[in-house]
Amino acid sequence: MSLGNCEIYEVGPRDGLQNEKREIPVRDKIALIDCLSRAGFNRIEIASFVSPKLVPQMAGSGEVLAGISRAAGVRYAALAPNMQGYKDACRAGADEIAIFASASEGFSKANINASIAESLERFAPILEEARHIDLPVRGYVSCVVACPYDGAVAPAQVAEVADKLFAMGCYEVSLGDTIGAGTPDSVARMLLAVRDVVPVGRLAGHFHDTNGRAIENIDASLSLGVRVFDAAVGGLGGCPFAPGASGNVATETLARHLAALGYETGLDPEVIAEAAALAQAMRTQPEPAH
Ligand code: HMG
Ligand code: MG
Repeated sequence: MSLGNCEIYEVGPRDGLQNEKREIPVRDKIALIDCLSRAGFNRIEIASFVSPKLVPQMAGSGEVLAGISRAAGVRYAALAPNMQGYKDACRAGADEIAIFASASEGFSKANINASIAESLERFAPILEEARHIDLPVRGYVSCVVACPYDGAVAPAQVAEVADKLFAMGCYEVSLGDTIGAGTPDSVARMLLAVRDVVPVGRLAGHFHDTNGRAIENIDASLSLGVRVFDAAVGGLGGCPFAPGASGNVATETLARHLAALGYETGLDPEVIAEAAALAQAMRTQPEPAH
C-alpha cells in the first residue's frame, strides 16, 4: 500500500564533499552530479559560494555549475552565506539558493562568524533580491537538537529561528541535526515546537548519522508529518578516520527505507547505486595501518 510521496533532497555533492580533505577534481564532481541527475531527484544541492579559505573543497563551485549537463525538471541549488555568495551563485546559474542559520549562538559564530541576529540581518537583503527575480530560497537551521559549542538546544530556540526564516520568505526550512545528537524523543519535541510556527509541509529533516540514529529520527519526523529529507549519496561527509562518525544519512539507505515503509520517492535504485559507488570512490581513503 502506498503511503504517498516522500522527497529526498540530495545534498551529497555539497554537504558530503565539503568535508572531504583530498582535493576532488571538478570533473569528478560533475560526473557524480550528472549521474544523480538521472536518478529522479527534483532538487540537488551541488555548490557553495563561501570563503574558499575556510572550505577549499567548494572553491570550484562556479565551474561545477557551468560544467554539469542539466536535466529537465531538476533544480540545482547552491549555498550562500552572504550577499557576495548570493551574487556569485546567481552569476553561476544556480536555480535556487540555500541560506544557513543556526539555532545556537556558538555554532553560528564558528560557522559564519556572526551571531544569529547578525546572520538574519545578512539574509534579509538576499531574500529581498531573490524575490525580485523569483529565485527560490531554502533556509537551513543548524544544531536543532544540540550544538558542539553550547550543548543542548531548546526547541523554542529552533522554532524562533525557523519562524524568522520562513517569515523572511524561505519556501522551505530544513532542520539540521548537525552533529547527529538527536533521538526520536528529542527530535519529536523539537518538531512539535517548530510545527506550531511553520507549516509542516514547509519543513525538511536534515539528519547527520554520526550516532547511527538518523533513520530512527526520520521515522519520528515522518510520524509528525515531515515528508522531505536531505540525504547524501554514499553517506558522504563525516570523517573516515573517526570510527563510528559518518556524514548525512545515505540516500540509498533512506530510499530503501522509505520504499519499504510504502512511500514513493520517484528515485531509480539502480542509478542511485551507481551514484553511491562513484561517491564512495571519492571518499578519502584511510591510511593503511602501520
Ligand atoms: P568573515 O571572515 O566574517 O567574512 O566570514 P568577511 O566578509 O570579513 O570576509 C573575509 C574573507 O572572506 C574576505 O576575503 C572575503 O572576500 C571572503 P579576504 O579579503 O580575507 O581574502 N568572502 C568570501 N569569499 C567567497 N565567497 C563568499 C565570501 N564572503 C566573504 N561568499 C563567511 C564570513 C560567512 C564568509 C565565512 O564564515 C564563511 O564562508 N563561512 C562558510 C562556512 C561553511 O561553508 N560552512 C559549511 C556549510 S553549513 C553546513 O554544512 C550545515 C548544513 O549542512 C546544515 C546542518 O547540517 O546543520 C547546511
Ligand atoms: Mg549538514
